[in-house]
Amino acid sequence: DRLPALLRLMPKAELHIHIEGSLEPELIFALARRNGVALPYASVDALRSAYAFTNLQSFLDIYYAGASVLLTEQDFYDMARAYLLKAAQDNVIHTELFFDPQTHTARGVPMETVINGLHRACVDAQAEMGVSASLILCFLRHLSEEDAFETLEQALPFQDKFIGIGLDSGEVGNPPEKFARVFARCRELGFHLVAHAGEEGPPAYVWTALDVLKVERIDHGVQSSRDALLMQRLAQDRIALTVCPLSNLKLCVFPDLASHNLRQLLDAGLAATVNSDDPAYFGGYMNENFTQTFAAGPFNAEHAYRLARNSFEASFIDEAAKARHI
Ligand code: HPA
Ligand code: ZN
Repeated sequence: DRLPALLRLMPKAELHIHIEGSLEPELIFALARRNGVALPYASVDALRSAYAFTNLQSFLDIYYAGASVLLTEQDFYDMARAYLLKAAQDNVIHTELFFDPQTHTARGVPMETVINGLHRACVDAQAEMGVSASLILCFLRHLSEEDAFETLEQALPFQDKFIGIGLDSGEVGNPPEKFARVFARCRELGFHLVAHAGEEGPPAYVWTALDVLKVERIDHGVQSSRDALLMQRLAQDRIALTVCPLSNLKLCVFPDLASHNLRQLLDAGLAATVNSDDPAYFGGYMNENFTQTFAAGPFNAEHAYRLARNSFEASFIDEAAKARHI
């Protein structure tokens, strides 16, 4: 069976990775020691054994606690560097990294520390690994729109260092339209726009992400299959879904990978992609997501090529570079 080798070796783009979700337990402990931060876990193994999630919120609580060890520009650089090395190993040749500045600025870490550390790692990855990497700033949707506006203000002096705006954190009860005004402003400023929608939330949140926020891609979006009209809209407008199979498994969105609806989304003509979301927490980087997904379902080489092609087509690389990859 040559499919696993094809999956590993094919060039691909990753469009849904939270850089704070790439922080491995070993690096959490190393940074805690370096920074003198106390952790409520005795060891790497004790921390890893707390990774038993029942839904999105049960994960977010541990994910925000893990990020508390990040204090200096070098910490952000080291975190992104470790992810980019893994990406290169998986033949990811382009990646768009989400970061959550509010998780850090709320602890007193300056915006420039966060952005400069991450951006320097992206620049070095291009030069040293041949991986192109861009940053997407995400607003935390459990916080207010006013807080998002303040975060945007703090980030604008560094606006040449990120290409887009996203929306993440606890979805249910925090619909996209809560951020209508700040997304309108980001659109005027010329940023690319994406939002998490339809991970745990209803198809209605995917509709408002498209029609109110005017996003170009939907992150997750797997709940869209519950709404036939929405499926038509996504297919007709070639709106990409950045699907994260191992994340959906670990957060109990689907009971097992065999029940995942990725194949259904592709069969309906949607521009679905495969991504890792928070690889340090969900048990796998890109190639692990591809190989486990394909092992569990009726997928063939044509699906592999289609997913890789979709990932470049849905990316925010320039059109000339896109034409070379598709
Ligand atoms: N959903 C929402 N917020 C997140 C996620 C996710 O999968 N990962 C990190 N923040
Ligand atoms: Zn995500």
